[in-house]
Amino acid sequence: MRWIDTLEAAAAENLPEAVHRYFRQGSAGGISVSEAVAAWSAYRFRPRVLNDVSTVEIGTTALGTPVDVPVLVAPSTMHRMADPDGEVAMAKGVGAANSIIGISSNAGTTFADLGATGVPWWLQIYIVRNRQITERMLDAAVEGGARAVVLTVDTPVVGRKEDVGETVWDLVQPGHLLANLPKGDWAEADLAKADDLNPDVIGWLAERTGLPVVVKGVLRGDDAKRCADAGAAGVIVSNHGGRQLDGSIPTAQALPEVAEVLAGTSTEVYVDGGIRRGEHILAALALGARAVFIGRPALWALTVAGSSGVTRLLTDLATELDHCLRLAGYRHPTALTPDLITRRFAD
Ligand code: FNR
Repeated sequence: MRWIDTLEAAAAENLPEAVHRYFRQGSAGGISVSEAVAAWSAYRFRPRVLNDVSTVEIGTTALGTPVDVPVLVAPSTMHRMADPDGEVAMAKGVGAANSIIGISSNAGTTFADLGATGVPWWLQIYIVRNRQITERMLDAAVEGGARAVVLTVDTPVVGRKEDVGETVWDLVQPGHLLANLPKGDWAEADLAKADDLNPDVIGWLAERTGLPVVVKGVLRGDDAKRCADAGAAGVIVSNHGGRQLDGSIPTAQALPEVAEVLAGTSTEVYVDGGIRRGEHILAALALGARAVFIGRPALWALTVAGSSGVTRLLTDLATELDHCLRLAGYRHPTALTPDLITRRFAD
């Protein structure tokens, strides 16, 4: 059996049931989370033959940072429940594979400690109602060496999880979350997500931090265009791993429309959600993504084997992608074009 496919079950044995459920679950009825992987697997390839594939190179750059593999780690929370060293362990694993990690603004590790790892990291930000909190968090991230700001835009309110019994919130301890919340006597309302955002926030973030801004949670071409027009350096086609509006379309379906709108612009396209195999990555790159992000598999790998598990996950996916590229008749992802794919979605 493929090692990556063993990870979730192995992680489940090491995690409290409520934490395992928190990592794996989607929102509401769980439709989007359950469709994500199958949507990538529904694509069919039209491989090229009689092309020299004796040397293949899968390295690329993401916002100018070189990566050995076009697979980055998506921002997520509660890393300390998977490994005592939390985000630092995840970052070290990512660094050893020469990739990039997204760090949640809810992370349980300080930006200074992350910066000390030397691993390239992008801050994921939720803008909260009290902008002072967000501003101070942004300043700390810049200080800690964040190379980009990932603005999550699919979360004006947090998606409803239909839990029964013990939940992760019953187990969460100080230090598991919000290590970068600035000191202050904040009320709950200060910390609620800002639900009045518009594209101007992209320019505001870029100006405040001096960093490129990547908008995460885009599922439509028209929204991608609004982001690009407002100065976004990138967009991540994402439905938040099926954790926000349930029934949102699979990212495998959303990607072509977004990539088409942004083709020929300087705004880079990324995608996440249900990407589990080299074939899925091949499809994403052919449809216009510069790189993909993975979420849950990194949490499982961290739980099962710490930093080295995360490195193995990324290098195994790199090996699979290399293999798939050769079979498809290509030497480099930049040569891929959408005609490699046929679509099976009914529009
Ligand atoms: C997430 N995700 C997420 N996204 C974000 O922008 N900020 C966050 O704090 C979190 N937290 C989070 C926690 C957990 C447990 C999961 C599973 C996910 C979403 C994440 O960045 C990404 O979009 C999805 O996980 C990608 O889908 P896959 O690869 O998990 O299928």
